[in-house]
Amino acid sequence: MNDKERIDSQISRLEEKYKDSGQDLSSYLDGLLYQRYLTYWDYIHLDTLLSLQVPRTYFPDEEIFIMYHQITELYFKLILHEQKQLVDDKSQNLDFFIEKTRRINSYYKALISSFSIMIKGMEKEQFLQYRMALLPASGFQSAQFRMIELYATPLENLVHESERHHYSSKNSIEELYENIYWKKGATDLSTGEKTLTLKQFEYRYTPRLIRIAKQVQNNTIYHKYLRLEAHKKNNKELIGALKKLDINANVNWPLMHMGSAHRYLGKDKDQVEATGGTNWKEYLPPSFQKIVFFPEIYSKQELNNWGKQWVDHIFNPDKTTGD
Ligand code: HEM
Repeated sequence: MNDKERIDSQISRLEEKYKDSGQDLSSYLDGLLYQRYLTYWDYIHLDTLLSLQVPRTYFPDEEIFIMYHQITELYFKLILHEQKQLVDDKSQNLDFFIEKTRRINSYYKALISSFSIMIKGMEKEQFLQYRMALLPASGFQSAQFRMIELYATPLENLVHESERHHYSSKNSIEELYENIYWKKGATDLSTGEKTLTLKQFEYRYTPRLIRIAKQVQNNTIYHKYLRLEAHKKNNKELIGALKKLDINANVNWPLMHMGSAHRYLGKDKDQVEATGGTNWKEYLPPSFQKIVFFPEIYSKQELNNWGKQWVDHIFNPDKTTGD
């Protein structure tokens, strides 16, 4: 086929396409004639993206803090993008399940290995000052972080560890949500009351989070796994990938994150103030939270020791590869 024949054939196919939807190809061809060429910066909205880093103080390191949170939120969005496809998939195809899980793990790997940007990449003196200008905001208020949990596992697995055995799928979504583990975080260390950080988050996101929990009721990634035929369910590659996801989301990322809390807030009383005086030391450790997305794939012993490897990881972060 020469060039002219190829273009004629393309035009005929375009005519078909536009005719099918009652449109006039000629007008669209005019549009093509007048349209600007697409540029990289317009396509990815680069100017907008680079205008979103707006510090509230004059400390230069605050910009690192803002940007790294934004980068993390974009990775969370990538994780959710894969989770939603898994939840929507009706085929229960094994390769699809493994591939999506593998992608999610590669995003966690990037997040876990880059967390040193927070732990080592800012001056503590600057942090402790600019952080005070950001109260009561906290990464605790990341809605996408909570959504990842809701897509992964049923609400009864997210009930606070101390009360989890009282609850099951028989409880209503509202009841389970009221007892979700993170409602015990971001509470005031001295009074035990909910901080403004938590109250504002609840006010802003409760309706949305409940809606998602209802949408994925009986259809989370864990449910999808449990419904697989036996030979798929026992597939070693899938089990390995799901374990990695669980450990990345509920042990390794939380450990790296906690490393930053220890570095900046860990020592004396003033430093604790930079969180607004919260109970983070009792709340953040994965061995206390014991959040497990896919409990069935572990032995009793593995579950009992959940998150206990944290000391090792904190002090040997290079071992934490996460892939
Ligand atoms: C120097 C860096 C950081 C420090 C010192 C820090 C500190 C804390 C503390 C103390 C908490 C407990 C809640 C509270 O008491 O306010 C918390 C929670 C949280 N932070 Fe950070 N954080 C840092 C960076 C980040 C980054 C980069 C993200 C990314 C989005 C993030 C996301 C979260 C999330 C999702 C929680 C809730 C964790 C959970 O519920 O288990 N943090 N952070």
